[in-house]
Amino acid sequence: MAEYTSILVEREEKVGIVTLNRPRELNALNFQLVNELADALEEFDRDEAIGCIILTGSGEKAFAAGADIKEMADKSPIDMMLGGFESWGRIRKIHTPMIAAVNGYALGGGCELAMHCDIILASENARFGQPEILIGVIPGAGGTQRLARTLGKYRTMEIVLTGSPINAKELESLGLVNHVVPQGELMNEARKLANKIAGQAPIAVRMAKEAVLSAFETSLEEGLDLERKNFFLLFATEDMREGMRAFIEKRQAHFQGK
Ligand code: CAA
Repeated sequence: MAEYTSILVEREEKVGIVTLNRPRELNALNFQLVNELADALEEFDRDEAIGCIILTGSGEKAFAAGADIKEMADKSPIDMMLGGFESWGRIRKIHTPMIAAVNGYALGGGCELAMHCDIILASENARFGQPEILIGVIPGAGGTQRLARTLGKYRTMEIVLTGSPINAKELESLGLVNHVVPQGELMNEARKLANKIAGQAPIAVRMAKEAVLSAFETSLEEGLDLERKNFFLLFATEDMREGMRAFIEKRQAHFQGK
């Protein structure tokens, strides 16, 4: 693993854990942190031994309170364009499933980062929101698009146009948060879920993630075609033979990622 200064990177068997680590700034996402995050996620993505990644924030107060306003305050459009925003595109292209364990504020870029993940767990004290409008800008890392696709136009408009935060329970009922758990149990729940995913057949997991994500990018017809092709392709894997044989023989399957 490379050396990082703004994030902590750990591995627990098949699970990679990345912790945003600027607690004094409520894990505000400066350019360096987002670049390091993209590097670390890509490193895990290349590692065949890693089957799931958990993303969380250090401290008890924040997952991430957004892009670093102090860093951005004097920037020009060109500075912003060249400063590392393309790292968000790298995060979007990670194939390994990612679980956001949201342990407090997930605002602005923090909310957008959670939405880059595939499953969102949140502690009871978590607060989500897109407060960019309050500082004269709009979400810049996918907030308007991902919220609208999950919550629909009207709730998204209210969130983006008022900047008011929303609690985790409400987002659980609206389908953006998978589960709300007590703060002290958040990482254990994330680990349980991550280990469950990491124990599945790796190629099937990758193809399942690709197929679900394609639902947000394509027409129904194209999405159905991609799902069908991935389904057929999995019949070329040893894991498919093993999984079906194990079912018939009434035993646990042992997947090899082949
Ligand atoms: N950028 C830089 N520093 C931040 C920050 C941010 N987004 N959020 C918090 N901090 C810093 C504060 O300035 C403060 O530092 P100092 O002690 O040096 O003053 C420290 O973290 C602690 O924060 P507060 O004292 O403000 O803590 P609080 O409990 O009173 O309030 C909060 C917490 C409601 C989250 C508040 O900090 C806040 O509103 N933060 C900004 C949220 C925001 O606007 N996020 C959107 C950023 S823009 C964006 O993300 C664009 C995009 O789409 C990519």
